[in-house]
Amino acid sequence: MTDIPQEPQHTHISHADYMNMVHALEFQINAGVNVFLEADPVNRFKSNRSTETFAPDPQPQHTLTPRPDPKLTAQIVSAPVIKPQSQNDDLPSYDIQKARPVAPAVLRENTADAGDVSAAEHVAEQADTLDALKQAMEAFEGCALKRAAKNTVFSDGNPASKIMLVGEAPGRDEDREGKPFIGRSGKLLDKMFAAIGLNRNDIYITNLVPWRPTGNRTPTPHETALCRPFLLRHIELVQPDILVLVGGVSAKEMLDSTLGITKLRGSWQDINIKSREIPALPILHPAYLLRNPARKAETWQDLCSLQKKLSNTLTSDAANLEGTD
Ligand code: URA
Repeated sequence: MTDIPQEPQHTHISHADYMNMVHALEFQINAGVNVFLEADPVNRFKSNRSTETFAPDPQPQHTLTPRPDPKLTAQIVSAPVIKPQSQNDDLPSYDIQKARPVAPAVLRENTADAGDVSAAEHVAEQADTLDALKQAMEAFEGCALKRAAKNTVFSDGNPASKIMLVGEAPGRDEDREGKPFIGRSGKLLDKMFAAIGLNRNDIYITNLVPWRPTGNRTPTPHETALCRPFLLRHIELVQPDILVLVGGVSAKEMLDSTLGITKLRGSWQDINIKSREIPALPILHPAYLLRNPARKAETWQDLCSLQKKLSNTLTSDAANLEGTD
């Protein structure tokens, strides 16, 4: 953190708000922001503001349905495997540019239990509330990740908010505390959202998988497939207006894409969950930004795009409300 300017003595601003403003400014400065586009601050949450329109790019749509268990099909296993770096905090850094070519792939037959994913689907479908879903996940014994985890990391933030973030997996701190994004990358995530005026009460956060993969490795396709029914049900119950896919692992899984996050980021795509289309924005993972601070400028653009989308959503909600009077 850079030097914190001295806090003014006689203001109506609380210390917490003051620090939030300092962090927001710090994030913007690090992201390369050096101009204000508008002279006066704009309250983008005011429902009667209808000047901006958002013209989404014509994007392909994605329908998220539970996938067949990848463990039941022949799986390509490469040796040695160079995994994309997990986005969790306590891993050594992995430079994708320096990655060695992967050795020839060998095909290996998988012998997984056929019931795994359908058991997860069945349990998830039974849950009618977020509390029920949380309890069902805590009681679920079908994913080996759970055995090594201290906690089932369900969510944090406000389930009534319009924005739902999907990260990758809990890290060490999250596993210990049972809450997503509370370690180093979580702190940066908070600053990123503070930079567009949002705090944890304005967003809702979960992960692709609720249990920490040991050593903070990337969850395997089988682990992700096992947790997918829970995530889909989670999204269905929360009904967010906007999904933010935090990092490459989440973006690729949710968009069913093979593209890397540096290609996917910043581009809105609709995801179809149980016949409901939800606009989704992939962003760079804060753990990646901690290692590559120069890329914060791109994230600033993405956050501005998110802010604009949110403002449009609020405007159209207000217009719909007026229409029903
Ligand atoms: N990284 C994630 O993707 N999720 C967390 O909850 C913490 C770190």
